Amino acid sequence: MKIDILTLFPEMFDGFINTSIIKSARNRKLVDINMINIRNFSLDKHSKVDDTPYGGGSGMVLMCQPIFDAVKSIKKDNSKVILMTPQGIKYNQKIAYNLSKEEHLIFICGHYEGFDERIRTICDMELSIGDYVLTGGELPSMVVADSVIRLVDGVIDSDSHSNDSFNNNRLDYPTYTKPREYAGMKVPDVLLSGDHKKIDEWRKEESRKRTIERRPDLLKKYSVVRSTLKGNIELFNIDCNGINPKNNAKRTDMISVKNLKIVDSYLNENVIKNNIEKKIEKLLMLIMKVLDTESTDDDILVLDEAERLKSLIINKYKKILGEDYVKYILKKIDYIVLQFKSSKIYIPEEIIEKSGKSR
Ligand SMILES: C[S@@+](CC[C@H](N)C(=O)[O-])C[C@H]1O[C@@H](n2cnc3c(N)ncnc32)[C@H](O)[C@@H]1O
Repeated sequence: MKIDILTLFPEMFDGFINTSIIKSARNRKLVDINMINIRNFSLDKHSKVDDTPYGGGSGMVLMCQPIFDAVKSIKKDNSKVILMTPQGIKYNQKIAYNLSKEEHLIFICGHYEGFDERIRTICDMELSIGDYVLTGGELPSMVVADSVIRLVDGVIDSDSHSNDSFNNNRLDYPTYTKPREYAGMKVPDVLLSGDHKKIDEWRKEESRKRTIERRPDLLKKYSVVRSTLKGNIELFNIDCNGINPKNNAKRTDMISVKNLKIVDSYLNENVIKNNIEKKIEKLLMLIMKVLDTESTDDDILVLDEAERLKSLIINKYKKILGEDYVKYILKKIDYIVLQFKSSKIYIPEEIIEKSGKSR
């Protein structure tokens, strides 16, 4: 991958490109990073690159000419030009993954008041690293470049980022290292058990719990994406008085339908599983709400909902989904209820204070 960064302050990148994983990726020729000084493209005799805004107002605005020319000098068919701006789409891990598959990224770093609006026309994408305003696009482009480079094949072991937070819309599970006990705090027994199946299960569950506690919004996103099942299912809506077989022989005497939906039985099973997952996520959202109230009055709502879901699965879907899946999903619901019940256990204030943790 090649990365070109158009900036007025190339020296800001010295530490970034010469340290740790980025340095090693460059040394191993997995990524080639160049800083290009926008000023070098100025046609002005004083190398001027900015001017005052039309219409008045404070600050200086980067001019079109040096940036248009700089981009033109390096852009190829496989280049993606990215403008760093707080007005861009909010950067996230999914975008990082997509960018890591590109061959050539060109970042444009604004500075001062910003850039001439017409610069937007030569960009393929506008990225913001968050809802706050920095003095320039240098730090944002380093943030994006760093997160993209670590995902480029070979830069780090792919196992190290496959469980990263935000993959599959989950936060990463907790990790521990030596010693086994520190200041009275012990490493969970399961991690010392050597039983990899159990360790995997524990990690999955911790990652899920953590996501519910800290970022329930990620789970919501997940259910929306999954529920659309794009590309996996086809519904044939036939609005007619019959079906025309392929040979065009009309047999309206055989069947008369207004709206026919044909669903592959395998996909049907997936749709049901997807619905069950969505219902479980709804249950988790309810749990979040009830836990927030800090009263026990609504506990019954959670327990009722869990029971309702379990009987729906047993009575309606057991035949379609099979024993194993039903067993697994019922266990999952029981586990969630157990977690819910245990988080309602009364912990005296002084113990919370002593441990320095708040619930
Ligand atoms: C002071 S900012 C200009 C902000 C501009 N007046 C606005 O409100 O949209 C200067 C430059 O810093 C960069 N920048 C600042 N905050 C950023 C953010 N959150 N994400 C990406 N780039 C940012 C952009 O390149 C921007 O042109």
